[in-house]
Amino acid sequence: MTDQQFPIEQVEDSNTSNNPHFNELLNSQINRRSVLRGGAGMTAAMMFGGMGLVGCSSDDDTVAATPAPTPNTPAPVLPKSLSFKPVAHSLEDLIKVPEGYQVQVIIPTGTPLVSWLPDWNDDGLQSGESFQYRVGDNHDGMYFFGMKNGKYDGSVSDRGLLAINHEYVNSSYLNPMGFFFNNDTTVPAYRNRVRLANDVRREVNCHGVSVIEIKRDDKNQFSVVTDSMYNRRLTSSTEMKIEGAAAGSDWMKTKYDPAGLKTRGINNQCGSGWSPWGTFLTTEENWAGAFARGADKAVIGDAVHNALVRYGIGENARSRYYWNTPSDAEGIIADEFSRWDITATSEKTAVQDYRNAANTFGYIVEIDPFAPKATAVKRTSLGRFSHENIAYAPVVVGQPIVFYSGCDARGEYVYKFVSKAVWDAKDVNGGMAAGAKYLNEGKLYVAKFNADGKGVWVELSISNPLITNATNFAFKTQADIAVFTRLAADAVGATKMDRPEWVDVSPVTGEVYLTLTNNVASQRPARYPVDAANPRNYDLNGDGTLDGNPNGHIVRWRADNNDHAAIGFTWDVYAFGAPHNHPANLSGLTKDNDFSSPDGLWFDPTGALWIQTDDGAYTDTTNCMMLVALPGKVGDGASMQVGDVTTYMGSKPTASNLVRFLVGPKECEITGVTFTPDMKAVFANVQHPGEDGDRATPSSHWPASQTNEDAKSLPRSATVIVTRKDGKALLDPMV
Ligand code: FEO
Ligand code: CA
Ligand code: CA
Repeated sequence: MTDQQFPIEQVEDSNTSNNPHFNELLNSQINRRSVLRGGAGMTAAMMFGGMGLVGCSSDDDTVAATPAPTPNTPAPVLPKSLSFKPVAHSLEDLIKVPEGYQVQVIIPTGTPLVSWLPDWNDDGLQSGESFQYRVGDNHDGMYFFGMKNGKYDGSVSDRGLLAINHEYVNSSYLNPMGFFFNNDTTVPAYRNRVRLANDVRREVNCHGVSVIEIKRDDKNQFSVVTDSMYNRRLTSSTEMKIEGAAAGSDWMKTKYDPAGLKTRGINNQCGSGWSPWGTFLTTEENWAGAFARGADKAVIGDAVHNALVRYGIGENARSRYYWNTPSDAEGIIADEFSRWDITATSEKTAVQDYRNAANTFGYIVEIDPFAPKATAVKRTSLGRFSHENIAYAPVVVGQPIVFYSGCDARGEYVYKFVSKAVWDAKDVNGGMAAGAKYLNEGKLYVAKFNADGKGVWVELSISNPLITNATNFAFKTQADIAVFTRLAADAVGATKMDRPEWVDVSPVTGEVYLTLTNNVASQRPARYPVDAANPRNYDLNGDGTLDGNPNGHIVRWRADNNDHAAIGFTWDVYAFGAPHNHPANLSGLTKDNDFSSPDGLWFDPTGALWIQTDDGAYTDTTNCMMLVALPGKVGDGASMQVGDVTTYMGSKPTASNLVRFLVGPKECEITGVTFTPDMKAVFANVQHPGEDGDRATPSSHWPASQTNEDAKSLPRSATVIVTRKDGKALLDPMV
């Protein structure tokens, strides 16, 4: 790594809590089958209320559920097997899809959303300000909102708004000038770089979210509606409202807004999220890396210092991109660069500086794609952590809405939020008002995965004595919990997981799936011991030393009585990632469906599960990929001994129910997945192709390489749309 480069994806590693791992229960002899026996316990009529039955499996104990928010969503048709030919491992600089399918590439980084800007140019000279009107970098989670008459319509496929996350920036490609050392030795290390104001501005604007109107022609090809009134960028500079439990608390007060009700920017938008009422829910994941902090423990005190450390911002932490280093004299907005420096001094108070700025990041942020002038809102009641994505359980009229979200860092936790308000289908298209109704008040929980295959949700409430008596932080209000959620979860003994990535709920079974992308050996077992739900620590490369769980796995659970608001659940492992020819291949994967480091995960409306990888452990064999699965149900496998741990594994995937659908170009991650409601087009993102290269020596030329093998242009993240050449729905129903 040169000085002009930096860690592209920070994997934060700050969970030093002494949480129990339920090892005392590892050898308990509970009859797994008796635990799992029994029907779903909730009838379809109970699930749907007034929403109408939209689909059922033939299995007796399978509960059909609402797959999408509008009453006019087409009925899902779950394929019985996958008939497309698997895509082989590939190390080429190309998107590979099955025979009979085709690829279209749209909206690479820098694409202008207005006609008055020139197209992207590799020269890196386009102004930072122009990226307020260009597609951002590192496309990630996204959702296609069908649109009719300016409103959300979940049955429309030919025109819609694509809301898309931009997770971070590949600065070594984006900016020709890079990072320079400051030769002034009196400058502390966290400010000891020189960055051009224009480069920082470009990077700040390349983060966030794009809302883009797209349309489809009669040949199933999509195009951007340039100059659409809906085209919009929200960046790491855009003003945001703060609502929910933390709004107006002392933790939110800054020089920008002494009332603690506003902040500027969203950062590190990762996995997908959307609401039943038709808004986009963007996630803030590795936001902590945006901030710099000097030595100020003596000013802020041990308690706040320790809380910052628990979020990965210790003393002398540098901003990942040194956004704090240009002079504000070069700024075009107030405190444009100094706002990324949260150092507190005794000369100022919290409303005179940005010591609390990082407290205003780390939330689920709601955006109404259909209201371009509506200010986005940070929904703080859902907790502050490294939100990977967010997914809601099938909504039931008259019942609370339940959202799941994992915290992606090593040894972090899985959370759920149960709304206080109960679902009313009339709130579809209710915009930010509906968001306030469902997301500002509710109960926040964290998961414990027990050794017996069961689990419980523990409420993170200020009335929970485990929290009020916590020794790691003096919790006094629900706002304290909303801001320092990780510490509250530590206090109740939540289960440390192998990096929770995406979570989603099957619209067919109602069961919840969660990718656990990997964990490393360096802190296993000391900080992150194996347990039943995170059982692996093995030698991947055959050098005789253990490597942790480098290939990851996918865990799933069924809520007690299929009631997602229930406290209890039953879990097992859907599949363990591994090379097909390795002893760690516990799930019987083959060369046609083996995978490593599962990350993106989404159930389409038919109940098929789409799995994506962000891998570094199997990339000598294949680039990252997307697979399609038709999973069974919790409990369809058996208990299994893995080392010293008893775990529970589902029935092994087969050649007809887990198949590789796509392989990406060099050094990319495949992430973000959405569909048109007619299921004729699947959208996926190619993130950071050629991430190990730089402007001088690019290691990929994708997307140009997709159609020109002699292409020499810089690699750019972009969205790919896969359709069938015969124009039919992507997966054959009932094959
Ligand atoms: Fe942004 Fe955890 O992936
Ligand atoms: Ca090893
Ligand atoms: Ca991810």
